[in-house]
Amino acid sequence: MTSKNIILTGCAGFIGSNFVNTIAKANPEINFSIIDALTYAGRFENIEQTVKEHEHLDFYKVDIRDSEKIETTFQKIQPDGVIHFAAESHVDRSIENPNIFVETNILGTLNLLNASLKIFEKSKPEFRFVHVSTDEVYGSLSETDPAFTEKTPLAPNSPYSASKTGSDLMARAYFETYKFPVMTTRCSNNYGPLQFPEKLIPLMISNALKDKNLPVYGDGKNIRDWIFVDDHNRGIWEVFLKGKAGEVYNFGGDSEKRNLDVVKTILKILDKPESLIEFVEDRKGHDWRYAIDFSKAEKELGWKPSVTFEEGIQKTVDWYLENKDFLA
Ligand SMILES: NC(=O)c1ccc[n+]([C@@H]2O[C@H](COP(=O)([O-])OP(=O)(O)OC[C@H]3O[C@@H](n4cnc5c(N)ncnc54)[C@H](O)[C@@H]3O)[C@@H](O)[C@H]2O)c1
Repeated sequence: MTSKNIILTGCAGFIGSNFVNTIAKANPEINFSIIDALTYAGRFENIEQTVKEHEHLDFYKVDIRDSEKIETTFQKIQPDGVIHFAAESHVDRSIENPNIFVETNILGTLNLLNASLKIFEKSKPEFRFVHVSTDEVYGSLSETDPAFTEKTPLAPNSPYSASKTGSDLMARAYFETYKFPVMTTRCSNNYGPLQFPEKLIPLMISNALKDKNLPVYGDGKNIRDWIFVDDHNRGIWEVFLKGKAGEVYNFGGDSEKRNLDVVKTILKILDKPESLIEFVEDRKGHDWRYAIDFSKAEKELGWKPSVTFEEGIQKTVDWYLENKDFLA
C-alpha cells in the first residue's frame, strides 16, 4: 500500500470512532488526520484516549460545509487518500429539517471531492477516496423481494437517504468525468459501542435501563439487516486497500430482524418486562424492509461478516452497561 497520509472525516461519531479505535490505531505506519465538526452526534471523548496516546493520529475541528477551510486543510495535510464518514445520519431529524442534510451530505461531500481532486490531479495519481454510504439509497423492499445488489436502482424515500443518494451520484460523476478514484460503500444498519442514543438499539437499551417506555414505530414489523460496526469498518478498510476505482460495494450482516424482535432481545438480555414496549405512530414514509446481497464484497475483497447478531447484541449491551455515562 502506498498511502501514508489519510484523512478520515466524521470520526468522532459512531462508526468513525470505532474505526479510529481499532483500525487506525493498529496502523502506526500511516498518518491519520481526523476531520470532524463535532456536531451533536460527534463527541471527541469517543476517540480522545486513542488520539492522545498515538502520535500517528491528529484531530482537526473542521466543518466539511466550509469549502475554504476544507481546501486549506487538505493543502496543509496533502493526503494520499480519504475515508469519508461524516454525515447527518438520523432519518427522523431529516424529516424535521432536511436542509442541513443537503448541506452536509451533498455539498460537504462535494467540497471533499473538489479538494481531493486537486491533489490527485496535481501530484498524487495513486489517490484513493472511499465514500461511506448506506443501503437506504436503494429504497424499500417487500417481504419477498430479493436483497439489494449494487445494481439495484436507486430509489431513496427519506430526505436522509435522498441526500446520501445525491452524494453517491456526485462521487460516481467524479469518477466518470475526471477519472477520480472514488469507491462507494453501501451498508445496512450498524450497531455496537459508541452509537448515539437516538438510534434504535442504544435508545432501547437506555430506556430499558431507566425503566422508561420503549417507543416502537407502527406495529414493529419493519425489517432491517443488522451488522456489527467492526465488520462494517473491516469492509471499508478492505475497499480502501483493494477496491476498484469507480465501484460500489455492499456490506451487510446477514441478519434480517423485525424491529420488535430486536427490542424484545434487548429486554431479555437486560431482564426487563416486555410491558415496557409502547407502540407509537409510525415514522413518515417508513421503509418496510432492507436486505443486502454482499456477494460482490465476498468475491472481490474476501470479506464477510464475522459477528452474529446474538454475539454482537450481547457485546453491545455489555458495553452500554459498562459505560452508562454515555447514555446520560
Ligand atoms: N449508522 C448506520 O447504521 C449507518 C449505516 C450505513 C451507512 N452509514 C453512514 O456511515 C457514516 C457514519 O455514520 P454514523 O452512524 O457514524 O453517524 P454519526 O451521526 O454517529 O456521526 C457522524 C459524524 O459526522 C460528523 N459531522 C456531521 N456533520 C459534519 C460536518 N458538516 N462537518 C464535519 N463533520 C460532521 C459528526 O460530528 C459526527 O462525528 C455516515 O455517512 C452514514 O450515512 C451509517
